[in-house]
Amino acid sequence: MTDRPEEDAGVADADLSDTTVLVTGSTSGIGREAALAFGRLGAEVLVHGRDEAAGETVVAEIERSAGDAQFFPADFTDVTAVRNLADAVRAHVGSLDVLANNAGGYFREAHLTEIGVEQTFHVNHLAPYLLTADLLPSLASDARVVTTSSGAHRGDPLDVEAVTTVDDYASFGAYQQSKLANVLFTKELARRFERSRGARTANCFHPGAIPGSNFARSLPGPIPRLIQSLDVLPFVPSPADGAATLLYLAVSDRVADVSGRYFADCAPATPDDPARDREAQRRLWTESAELLGIPEPLQDTADETAKDEERQTEETQTDETAKDEERQTDETASDEETRAETHD
Ligand SMILES: NC(=O)c1ccc[n+]([C@@H]2O[C@H](COP(=O)([O-])OP(=O)(O)OC[C@H]3O[C@@H](n4cnc5c(N)ncnc54)[C@H](OP(=O)(O)O)[C@@H]3O)[C@@H](O)[C@H]2O)c1
Repeated sequence: MTDRPEEDAGVADADLSDTTVLVTGSTSGIGREAALAFGRLGAEVLVHGRDEAAGETVVAEIERSAGDAQFFPADFTDVTAVRNLADAVRAHVGSLDVLANNAGGYFREAHLTEIGVEQTFHVNHLAPYLLTADLLPSLASDARVVTTSSGAHRGDPLDVEAVTTVDDYASFGAYQQSKLANVLFTKELARRFERSRGARTANCFHPGAIPGSNFARSLPGPIPRLIQSLDVLPFVPSPADGAATLLYLAVSDRVADVSGRYFADCAPATPDDPARDREAQRRLWTESAELLGIPEPLQDTADETAKDEERQTEETQTDETAKDEERQTDETASDEETRAETHD
């Protein structure tokens, strides 16, 4: 691993000088490293977060490299702020080539946002859903939407009704549900993109466990600093390592036609079963619009739903192939271990 995600992603030679990229949550951590990498490749980078000073620092760093940048602030707990962000981006860009839905957090305290939604679900899922919906008219015909999910999505199926209360709030459970929503959202968006007959894609990924970001900021006392201090240990992935799969999905020719998939370490991976539930994907899409009080984006029709059933079989087969590939890699690795042990 290097401190250059574009190298780890195998896209260091890409020329992004005609490309505009929005990276949400790029004032720190994984998003910041991704934004700097896009800048080094020559892109125009729209930097987002709440911390203006940190945002302007990222902008200045990008401008010292090959890219151009501008900071767009917005608090993702605030529906109006997200809509204003989309308006500002639409006014600023001709078209957007990459939308990296990366902003997110882990919240120790229970809190309902002004629309009565649990804040982890709101920040990590509803806000990027709304931003993506509002930016649809500005997405290039071959735009890539890349969403930062997490291996933490594994666990219980999604319960959208439960997000309107914080009774029995459990911070890890709330985070798991929001990261599961990222995978369900990606798969439904990919399907709706496919129907709209453009070449737009949607994929999501697990960046790895990255102690060096600000991710643990809501934990009490010295815990965030203790976690961050692990960053100096060898073999612990850095925020730059975490950004490699984002760069890969946003730039690599190898995934130009791949959509609706979950990745880890720049390779397809199989998400948890609840993330592959077609009905849950569809329900999340419509219920998210209801929670936000907006018309359903990229609206479904009965005909298309029927066609989906056919595609479902294909997708299940592709997921099974990914599982087979993983099994094969595991088997090869363990064969190699056995050979090495025999050698010793
Ligand atoms: N670190 C890990 O181990 C890990 C593992 C799996 C997945 N992830 C995912 O990776 C993504 C990036 O996290 P990170 O580890 O890089 O953490 P980070 O350093 O804390 O970065 C989070 C980014 O999101 C922004 N953000 C947080 N809350 C926001 C809000 N209410 N409104 C607007 N922006 C907000 C922050 O901006 P401001 O600071 O300017 O508000 C910051 O730029 C998240 O989606 C996280 O779930 C992280």
